[in-house]
Amino acid sequence: MNIEKIKKDFPILERKIGLNDLVYLDNTATTQKPLQVVEALKDYYFQHNANIHRGIHTLSEEASEMYDNARKTVAQFINAIYPEEIIFTRGATESLNMAAFSWGIPNLKKGDKILLTGFEHHSNLIPWQIVAKNTGAELKFVKIGSAGIVDMTEFKNALTPDVKLVCVAHASNVLGTILDIKEISKMAHAVGALVCVDGAQAVPHMPVNVQSLGCDFYSFSGHKMLGPTGIGVLYVKKSVMGQMVPFQFGGGMIKEVSLTDASWADAPEKFEAGTPDAAGAIGLAAAIDYLTALGMDKVREHEIELGKYAIEKLTAIEGIKILGPLDPEKRTGLISFYSEKVHAHDIASVLNSFGVAVRSGHHCAMPLHKELGLPATVRASYYIYNDFSDIDKLAEGVKKALTMLS
Ligand SMILES: Cc1ncc(COP(=O)(O)O)c(C=O)c1O
Repeated sequence: MNIEKIKKDFPILERKIGLNDLVYLDNTATTQKPLQVVEALKDYYFQHNANIHRGIHTLSEEASEMYDNARKTVAQFINAIYPEEIIFTRGATESLNMAAFSWGIPNLKKGDKILLTGFEHHSNLIPWQIVAKNTGAELKFVKIGSAGIVDMTEFKNALTPDVKLVCVAHASNVLGTILDIKEISKMAHAVGALVCVDGAQAVPHMPVNVQSLGCDFYSFSGHKMLGPTGIGVLYVKKSVMGQMVPFQFGGGMIKEVSLTDASWADAPEKFEAGTPDAAGAIGLAAAIDYLTALGMDKVREHEIELGKYAIEKLTAIEGIKILGPLDPEKRTGLISFYSEKVHAHDIASVLNSFGVAVRSGHHCAMPLHKELGLPATVRASYYIYNDFSDIDKLAEGVKKALTMLS
């Protein structure tokens, strides 16, 4: 990939932080937006804006067609069979809440188990805690090995016949660990459980094919893959959609309404009550076009190279410990690390003074940090516009932080 050329599409990367050039390494939290995405939003708002599926005037028809095409673009990107399997949401969090409230609550009962890993993001943990409280089902967790890898034999053993749903991240937002979803789906289906995947840290970084993964639900956020904030996706396999009930009600999702009752439109409209974020969906489609033009295989290769380099650089710094697998092929585009002597926030603060933006804290994975006995970690996450020099600046900054503060 031609990183110099890619960088030119992202005006924010020309920014200074104080006197330093910005080195943006907080892509797991959110990515920057290319001109092409902002132009798509501008074109939509300046040329086509109208409420979709509600008017017969030209603008409404144009906006509706653009929104429907965005759904097709998303379906194609993750290789869903039908565009109707794509429900637009506000982001991965809302997608997972939808799976929990639209499928979990009506389908689970006392005695059922929901299987998760110990490294789930709060967005793929708390909704299931609420489901458990509401249905009497119980949560069960697969242990994570010391290298941050989930052992498939452990997984298989945990898949007892009472497990009705497996909810796992495709890639951990702290350890970087990539899970073998294809294998998990096979094992889960063998005991009759459905599989709900949190793909927030996978779809932006690697080719994802929901048919080949075999999962039943798959969630992700547009803003983590060059798209706008406020748009996300819940993929639901067509054969499972009939088991779901809407969890939001109002305009746009109905077939017939009387003063005392209502019936629902077909999916996916049934699950998209109210005026949808048409601009967001169109912006997400532009982001997907951008990534598709680069090639998701190339994106993945680039991140493996950067990961390899970052692991070498960071492990060479005395006192720095890296979380998760050390094999770059086994992780997505992020590295979390810590020092026993200097707090993560202090390292991040020193890095910021050199223009390097990283995240520090528990990264919405408090149970994992508690399990590891760490109050916080630093997370550097790279994407298509980062290069080796960004990793050099990260490593230099970390060294300086340790020298200044330990
Ligand atoms: C693994 C994972 N799941 C879910 C989410 C929630 O995404 P959002 O805040 O976009 O809804 C995140 C965000 O960081 C994440 O990393």
